[in-house]
Amino acid sequence: MENFTFYSPTCFVFGRDTELQAGSLIRRFGGSRVLIHYGGSSAVKSGLLDRVKSALEKEGVSFQLLGGVQPNPRSGLVEKGIELCRREQIDFILAVGGGSVIDSAKAIAAGTLYDGDFWDFYTGKRVEKALPVGTVLTIAAAGSEGSPDSVITKEDGMFKRGASGDALRPRFSILNPALTQTLPPFQTAAGITDIMAHLYERYLTNSKEVEVTDRLIEALLLTMIHEGPRVIADPNNYDARANIMWAGMMAHNNSCGVGRSQDWNSHNIEHELSAMYDCAHGAGLAVTLPAVFTYVMEHDVMRFAKAAVRVWGCQMDFDHPEVTAREGIEKMRRFFISIGMPANFTELGAKEEDIPALVKALCWGDGRQGSISGFVTLDEKDCEKIYRMML
Ligand code: NZQ
Ligand code: ZN
Repeated sequence: MENFTFYSPTCFVFGRDTELQAGSLIRRFGGSRVLIHYGGSSAVKSGLLDRVKSALEKEGVSFQLLGGVQPNPRSGLVEKGIELCRREQIDFILAVGGGSVIDSAKAIAAGTLYDGDFWDFYTGKRVEKALPVGTVLTIAAAGSEGSPDSVITKEDGMFKRGASGDALRPRFSILNPALTQTLPPFQTAAGITDIMAHLYERYLTNSKEVEVTDRLIEALLLTMIHEGPRVIADPNNYDARANIMWAGMMAHNNSCGVGRSQDWNSHNIEHELSAMYDCAHGAGLAVTLPAVFTYVMEHDVMRFAKAAVRVWGCQMDFDHPEVTAREGIEKMRRFFISIGMPANFTELGAKEEDIPALVKALCWGDGRQGSISGFVTLDEKDCEKIYRMML
């Protein structure tokens, strides 16, 4: 296991009706002038936004509203939010929504306290300072409720990039599984896929002797395989939603990624798809993961065979571990399809003729030097082959 520092000070408040504590939590974490940031329409329609507003009013916390965050959140609204926070002297941002809303809130939080262009943080500058952020999560997926990350798409060039820094970890996150019961099945499934991808991106490691985190990841993957189909069959199953919601947080606050190298090539490859086609991130991952895993499998066949046996219940073929490894990848692919995810480029809405542009943006966009690196290093030719495997 490698050396690490793990600092994750988020207060998680989990369970039914916990959104009613939003006002008192903001007070506890020092907020008095709040920006409530939310998405398109779901939080308004469900009445959640009204409940949150009343919770703040009850505590005498003043607030401004900024809605309209779209999935794959854009830089334009972040700039608007920064301006608003400075003008209104906002001291706390409350994100009510999914990963897109939370990421947009984090970008505004960092940008408000920074003199330069907030995009600097999305091209490598670490976030050291940000306004405090709290969240009321409405979809189990991105894990932004516990992560130090934010992913934003710059409208000029449609670059989708991430920023990072412990200052971006939310002060508190309210996780009420019942709030996710209004999700359309497709979004629920995209969330499940994203959570599993976060686990796999950590499982694909070059670090040795990392049994504790290997086992945590395997346990969380097994949970998703068990609970995923239950929630697709019965969207109102609170217990399945509760297990998925907590697994989604644990998958990405890095408690199971510490002390080991990680991959993230699949996420980088997918981010170009959701940047170009505005598809759901999880749906893009369902198509990306099987292709990437098949392509890089030979780098460490035993790691894929181990996942196949421990997670997917395959029998180990000791003479031909690559057969076991492939069987595990195929079972994963079929699982994604079984919960309603797309199987290929066409179903995702992607086009073969765009592959050169995707590869260029992936390998050269925003300062990259012709390749991406993680579990293995992938150059332009590798990335082109991987996109073609998704056809
Ligand atoms: O905008 P509204 O109307 O709220 O609709 C949203 C949106 O259309 C809807 N939705 C959310 N909660 C709902 C609901 N509909 C009904 N009932 C509810 N309870 O779902 C749609 C998707 O929402 P979004 O926030 O985009 O989903 P998700 O949480 O999957 O976030 C995706 C974004 O997170 C980024 C992705 O790249 C993508 O941009 N990621 C962020 C990470 C991080 N910050 O750590 C890591 C991830 O790997 C990921 O890259
Ligand atoms: Zn993700």
